[in-house]
Amino acid sequence: MGAIKDRFKAKADIVAAEIKDILKNHGTKIIGEVQLSQIYQGMRGITGLVSETSLLDAQDGIRFRGYSIPELQAQLPRAEGGSEPIPEGLFYLMLVGELPTDDDAQLVTSLWQRRSHVPNHVFATIEALPVSSHPMTQFVTGVMALQTESIFARRYATGMSKKDYWDAVFDDTMDLIARLPRIAAYIYRRKYKKGEHIQPDGLLDWAGNFAHMLGYEDDGFKELMRLYMTIHADHEGGNVSAHATHLVGSALSDPYLSYAAGMNGLAGPLHGLANQEVIKWIFEMRETLNTELPTNEQIADYVQKTLGEGKVVPGYGHAVLRRTDPRFMAQMEFGKKHMPDDPLVQTVWNVYETVPPILQSLGKVKNPWPNVDAHSGALLVHYGMVEYEFYTVLFAVSRALGVLANLCWDRALNFPLERPKSVTTRLVKKWLNGEDEIWGD
Ligand SMILES: CC(C)(COP(=O)(O)OP(=O)(O)OC[C@H]1O[C@@H](n2cnc3c(N)ncnc32)[C@H](O)[C@@H]1OP(=O)(O)O)[C@@H](O)C(=O)NCCC(=O)NCCS
Repeated sequence: MGAIKDRFKAKADIVAAEIKDILKNHGTKIIGEVQLSQIYQGMRGITGLVSETSLLDAQDGIRFRGYSIPELQAQLPRAEGGSEPIPEGLFYLMLVGELPTDDDAQLVTSLWQRRSHVPNHVFATIEALPVSSHPMTQFVTGVMALQTESIFARRYATGMSKKDYWDAVFDDTMDLIARLPRIAAYIYRRKYKKGEHIQPDGLLDWAGNFAHMLGYEDDGFKELMRLYMTIHADHEGGNVSAHATHLVGSALSDPYLSYAAGMNGLAGPLHGLANQEVIKWIFEMRETLNTELPTNEQIADYVQKTLGEGKVVPGYGHAVLRRTDPRFMAQMEFGKKHMPDDPLVQTVWNVYETVPPILQSLGKVKNPWPNVDAHSGALLVHYGMVEYEFYTVLFAVSRALGVLANLCWDRALNFPLERPKSVTTRLVKKWLNGEDEIWGD
């Protein structure tokens, strides 16, 4: 662990000194203004957070430490014989801020292999839930049960210096990420495969071993897991799961508590649950139309029916993005390479041709283009993973990489308790009546 931890600390010390200097010399610089509508409408466009690991551009999509997804696919280390990046490399990039060598990524792999033991009480806690519980409920319950292992909580309770917070958060981060695939796979096998569990393969990379424990030995599925775990990892700091993890972590809740909070947010249908909604919607469409491969005209009619029922078209739209999500494109390329003739995958592509003009014609949808969730399910179904209620758990395992790398930075940079100001509509009315000085001239 030493080498990566030392590199992270050295980088964080440099950035901390830079921030100190920036705040000393430019702390009063105005970087934006807030309109009344924004505080009622989800704080869209208000810059209020620093998140070092990635930055989202409305047109370009996500960049991790400056690198786009296609650039990462070309430059990050791969598994032996594979052509997709391994998520260990992306984690290193987000944490240390530099592209890893093959050896660096391999070091992360071996650290996670060594730290992946999950204590029995975690499985017992999951077993206490009805098997019918949603996989995300089981997953977050498992993470909470694992919180007994938190090094941060233990060290804090015995009196830890502020200077060491980052160190304990770093250790928890590595432990937690290492253990998540085992918990997720346990839930999958418990719920869908008669509780027939599969032991980890200590020789495989993190995502490859995850695929193995889920019960998928196809090399294509292992490659899909590497891609999936890489592209879902982070989407800058303001999305619900990243923000919730950061917010709860700012109370010095340990990484287990903070990550669980973020994943409860990921479980919402407007966030991570959308991937299961997409495939459910496509399955229902195929059943209603009684065809495996609906025509574009049939899809258009079905979209109108969905909208007419007051529902959103799942997988389309985004709070920030204003073009096709590059994560959708990466999955489309994977589909073209591995399964171009799959009718479900083709349906996803036909939906892509059909939906944007319809959403555009509504005149209110700010982004009519597909997001990451519009594609992922069809690729998983191709390999036999049809249990779409489980998809958000896959997203959650991946999202750990981003939100926990961020938490390491939060503590290394000594970010304080987050506490924005809120107001009442009564006060807003006073402002509008000129009864409060904030509005006065
Ligand atoms: C992602 C999402 C929550 C973003 O919300 P947002 O920032 O409020 O989006 P917009 O500003 O474009 O919304 C403006 C209007 O368009 C509607 N709209 C947005 N996306 C839509 C979609 N895919 N289908 C139908 N209507 C949509 C909104 O519901 C809203 O309608 P309203 O004014 O009647 O309430 C939204 O696009 C959505 O619900 N998409 C479907 C779910 C999904 O794919 N989520 C995963 C996100 S990664």
